[in-house]
Amino acid sequence: MRKVALSLVAVGILLLVAAWYPHYVEKPVKDGKGPLSVYVDPSLSAPEYHSPLDWWELHHADILNRGDLTQSDCLQCHDPERSCNHCHRYVGVAEITP
Ligand code: HEC
Ligand code: HEC
Repeated sequence: MRKVALSLVAVGILLLVAAWYPHYVEKPVKDGKGPLSVYVDPSLSAPEYHSPLDWWELHHADILNRGDLTQSDCLQCHDPERSCNHCHRYVGVAEITP
């Protein structure tokens, strides 16, 4: 009887480990899969200063901190949560709050 109870506990622990096992989560890329995907409304066209896009990904902070553009310019098109903070939390930068 005790053996049965013990094996049930063991099976239970195995199931819990399987259920809570950390899953692979894709890093935040635009139109990527998974919960961190960066989303921008596809009906919008990107402003000229986004080009080339990989330069912009690296340097948008400098442009904003220099005051050439302000955060509210960005939020005309971008939803802060899905468009900014998925990436900001991932890289450890302060969150964008409207
Ligand atoms: C007119 C609308 C518009 C405005 C204003 C705008 N964006 Fe964008 N942004 C877009 C679009 C559209 C894309 C997607 C471009 C693409 O996929 O080629 C994009 C892409 C980006 C990306 C790249 C996301 C990724 O993971 O590749 C970043 C970062 C970004 N924008 C930041 C900003 C910031 C910061 C501002 C304010 C200074 C801003 N945007 C203002 C429309 C806009
Ligand atoms: C693809 C990833 C990514 C996306 C999407 C993104 N950022 Fe950033 N952002 C960064 C990184 C990385 C830094 C730090 C860059 C550095 O310090 O040089 C940064 C820094 C910043 C900073 C400067 C913060 C500071 O403490 O100096 C601002 C402001 C900013 N981002 C605004 C935005 C806004 C607004 C959006 C959405 C429209 C956005 N970012 C979307 C990656 C991203």
